[in-house]
Amino acid sequence: MKKSALLFILMVITTTFSFAQEKLMTNAYNRASTSLNGYWNYIVDPYENGFYNYRLEPFENQKNPGQGAFFTNSKIKNKLDLIEYDFDKMDSLMVPGDWNTQKEKLFYYEGTVWLKKSFNYEKDKNTNRVFVYFEASNYETDVYLNGKKLGKHIGGFTPFNFEVTHLLKPEDNFLIVKVDNKRKKDAVPTVNTDWWNYGGITRGVKLIETSETFIEDYFIQLDPKNDKRIIGELTLNGESKSQREVQISIPALKLKKKLYTNANGKVSIEINSNKINYWSVENPFLYDVIIKTEEDKITDQIGFRTIKTEGSSILLNGKSIFLKGISIHEESPINGGRGHSKEDAQQLLNWAKDLGCNYVRLAHYPHNEHMVRLADKMGILVWEENPVYWTISWDNEQTFLNAKNQLSEVIDRDKNRASVIIWSMANETPTSNARNIFLTKLANFTKEKDPTRLISAALEQSDYRGNPLIRTIHDSFAEVVDILSFNQYIGWYDGGIEKCITISWNIEHDKPVMISEFGAGAKYGLHGEKDTRWNEEYQAYLYEETLKMIDQIEQLKGVSPWILVDFRSPRRVLPEIQDGWNRKGLMSEKGEKKKAFFVLKNYYDNKRISN
Ligand code: GCU
Repeated sequence: MKKSALLFILMVITTTFSFAQEKLMTNAYNRASTSLNGYWNYIVDPYENGFYNYRLEPFENQKNPGQGAFFTNSKIKNKLDLIEYDFDKMDSLMVPGDWNTQKEKLFYYEGTVWLKKSFNYEKDKNTNRVFVYFEASNYETDVYLNGKKLGKHIGGFTPFNFEVTHLLKPEDNFLIVKVDNKRKKDAVPTVNTDWWNYGGITRGVKLIETSETFIEDYFIQLDPKNDKRIIGELTLNGESKSQREVQISIPALKLKKKLYTNANGKVSIEINSNKINYWSVENPFLYDVIIKTEEDKITDQIGFRTIKTEGSSILLNGKSIFLKGISIHEESPINGGRGHSKEDAQQLLNWAKDLGCNYVRLAHYPHNEHMVRLADKMGILVWEENPVYWTISWDNEQTFLNAKNQLSEVIDRDKNRASVIIWSMANETPTSNARNIFLTKLANFTKEKDPTRLISAALEQSDYRGNPLIRTIHDSFAEVVDILSFNQYIGWYDGGIEKCITISWNIEHDKPVMISEFGAGAKYGLHGEKDTRWNEEYQAYLYEETLKMIDQIEQLKGVSPWILVDFRSPRRVLPEIQDGWNRKGLMSEKGEKKKAFFVLKNYYDNKRISN
């Protein structure tokens, strides 16, 4: 066994930890499943009366929680019964979907909402197992089936699953979910963000039936050190997971390999081939990879590519590339509110393609899986970010474990996606010892869990040795990242546009540099002088001057301006201009292109992607 492959496997084994309830199953996207999407009855519960008794003791901790506990879904059966709720007589919300844009009265609501789904379910085979899989739910989610607690998940943007085999009935099952999107100081993200805190079961829910022993997890990628070798790790879950035969086949490469699991149901994968059609922006070729055991079979579409840095170059399959990007928030360009559907993702990525992009920054949290699956197909490179945003509680161990868990979950979900090349640890975080330790621990964890991708974070720039006309990156975390990214707002938060031409850069790191954000607000359709804020001419002029300014940066290898589309933010309240929207989009929330859209498009159309 080659040393690098062995190292890769050892690293992957050591990085699972015990914050999340149950191990996330890989590739739920392609597994046979039964959707629980649709209308769910809901109860708004700001006082959490359905969770706590009047002494604020959680009902779920009590041996007999009593009918007052909403997760019991109790019903009045006789005239003396005292039950003060009834899900089935309540209004309903669409799942997936945030409650804010579905119900006028919940637009600003932050707190607890209970949702209930009743369903029947017959297993295909008696020995089979069943899991309930949530693609995401914001923010703190407690899940109960038939009155029993399945578990809890914290984090609004990553998937989680619970086994329900032992609780499932053929009929009249009731799945009850308590979702609480209250913002908290020690949470991730913390209390202040520049995006709308959409609450609810924001992505799909499904039941996944598996054989008793099933293919739970796998990581299959090209060896970063040898692009003629496919390596990876696979884990079976179940009574008979050890010494089991696993067959991996890649028909298009005429490859078929038989492997046997060890006592822990794990097996390492190493397949050599010098016929690989490498995935790239121009050639987003995806292989069908089929994994089979005697009981289970799963297929995935995996692209094989290498991504690394060399000095200040970013090398995709060994070739230097310039990342022509745009930042995107996960808002539906079709219905408004938190985006979740394939159509939402397709629209946003089509607009990015219209702009001439080969890369997108998904800000500031993991977006839905459709985004990365489509990016795989469309040949768009992706930056994924953990919602460590602005100033969080760096000294709080629970905050750290929470941040680590959210990162672990998005890596587990997307580690087989060729399009995903960068894991971002954070955005605009203030330098301090505690922060440096926090982020460095996250970066080391990520490098161990996934040694095939690049690490970055959106840092902040500062004066070079006190000279405000020379800018640099003065941040010890810059030593840790593979790609040195920073946000800069010269011409918007930092002076006027005329300042751009006066600025020079002195970045000493021999690393690729990425401008992860720049931009200006503009109300679509508002026109005027280019030195007057909020009109389209100002935004376009800022783009022209900024692109000239950053082109001076020798190590510049990419940019992802802020932002593709105007998005909701409770921090943006200027009447007739913002009205609750951050207006830095190159397009309005209705999909109308502003002048600056064409400035950037022109820059990208004339930018060589390899240099
Ligand atoms: C910040 C931040 C964004 C924010 C943007 C803005 O840099 O990262 O989340 O929306 O600036 O102020 O518009």
